Amino acid sequence: MDFFAYRDGRLFAEDVAVSDIASQYGTPAYIYSRATLERHWHAFDQALGEHPHLICYAVKANSNIGVLSVLAKLGSGFDIVSGGELARVLEAGGDAGKVVFSGVGKTREEIRYALEQGILCFNVESEPELERINAVAAEMGVTAPISLRINPDVDAKTHPYISTGLKANKFGIPRERAIATYELADSLPNLEVKGMDCHIGSQLTTIEPFVDALERLLELIDVLASKGITISHLDVGGGLGVTYNNETPPHPKEYAAALAEKMSGREQLKLIMEPGRAIAANAGIMITEVEFVKEGDEKHFAIVDAAMNDLIRPSLYSAWQHIGRVEQDTDATPRVYDVVGPICETGDFIGKDRELAIKPGDLLAVRSAGAYGFVMASNYNTRCRPPEIMVDGTTVTVVREREMLKDLWKGEHKLT
Ligand code: LLP
Repeated sequence: MDFFAYRDGRLFAEDVAVSDIASQYGTPAYIYSRATLERHWHAFDQALGEHPHLICYAVKANSNIGVLSVLAKLGSGFDIVSGGELARVLEAGGDAGKVVFSGVGKTREEIRYALEQGILCFNVESEPELERINAVAAEMGVTAPISLRINPDVDAKTHPYISTGLKANKFGIPRERAIATYELADSLPNLEVKGMDCHIGSQLTTIEPFVDALERLLELIDVLASKGITISHLDVGGGLGVTYNNETPPHPKEYAAALAEKMSGREQLKLIMEPGRAIAANAGIMITEVEFVKEGDEKHFAIVDAAMNDLIRPSLYSAWQHIGRVEQDTDATPRVYDVVGPICETGDFIGKDRELAIKPGDLLAVRSAGAYGFVMASNYNTRCRPPEIMVDGTTVTVVREREMLKDLWKGEHKLT
């Protein structure tokens, strides 16, 4: 559930009319709802009840400092994939001691920085990475807390670009090599084995792959225990899907209950989750204005002022996101449009074959844009990235200003 809803035909973000935000700050723009972010985070946190746990929000989904600060205030942990994301978490007031560091390519500098800040754990994805973390920790005279990301080889049944738990994917350590790799980790003097983790993919809409992966990991944890290697936390990654159209993903409660059931009798094993999309996606919308309505030979086009550089998911993954009018009152006739941006690429579309009653000047809201929206935006075609705006009740805060042209060529130089 989110806090974007129509009141008398006008779309509101919490208690603020979206069209008022558009008049003040222009379009395109991202608008987030603080109450929605908080509600989604609490849904995960409460679902795990008394079982020792930590919700580590996946920063990559939306790394705006304003968004991170809202979650930090709730006591959230964070899942990061770069030194940059760690710096953002700290800037936002997050606790380094609740940070897990994922990703296949951590550099020496990133490892050193994370050790200096005292993160909770490195989620290690390969043997050479173990050796690297051990070496950096040794140089610093410290011990690095580690977890191994195990590739459980389960099919998440999601888009191939965001499926990560299959043998053919670049992520994690194959489960056949898991025990040997833990033995290696255990033998390295500057590492401390803390946990086990996995992440099998994103936008999963069924529980079974999560449960299959968990069962496979628990088996490994038992084998390790028999070898004297104790695992104190199990990180099940992120990946719970959201409703963009007619998907019916499990509620965090159902998802957590299914995992908790498998964990019964293991109360000493702390559960970590890394949800990104399920917290942020439906806590954000992107608004855009119709510039032109154009008649093609075969199609009608609504040319809007947002483009694939602002929101790339439709172009990149053929993702479907709901597009609707901000003000429902209209005398325009409904027709089926491709909603496209001004970029010089056929792949520049926000939605295809959408029935809309619109005319130039109308505002549209693209829903479920709070995750993997602004963070994946670019400056392609020398377009300034949109502002990000947080609504909290009746309060509107610009949490990132609209870029200006001079920001775009900062650091570039003319030749004489
Ligand atoms: N943990 C790890 C290690 C991950 O790689 C990811 C996402 C997450 C957690 C969070 O997953 P979530 O709960 O958000 O599904 N850009 C794509 C999604 C890429 C996801 C990458 N990894 C999209 O727009 O659909």
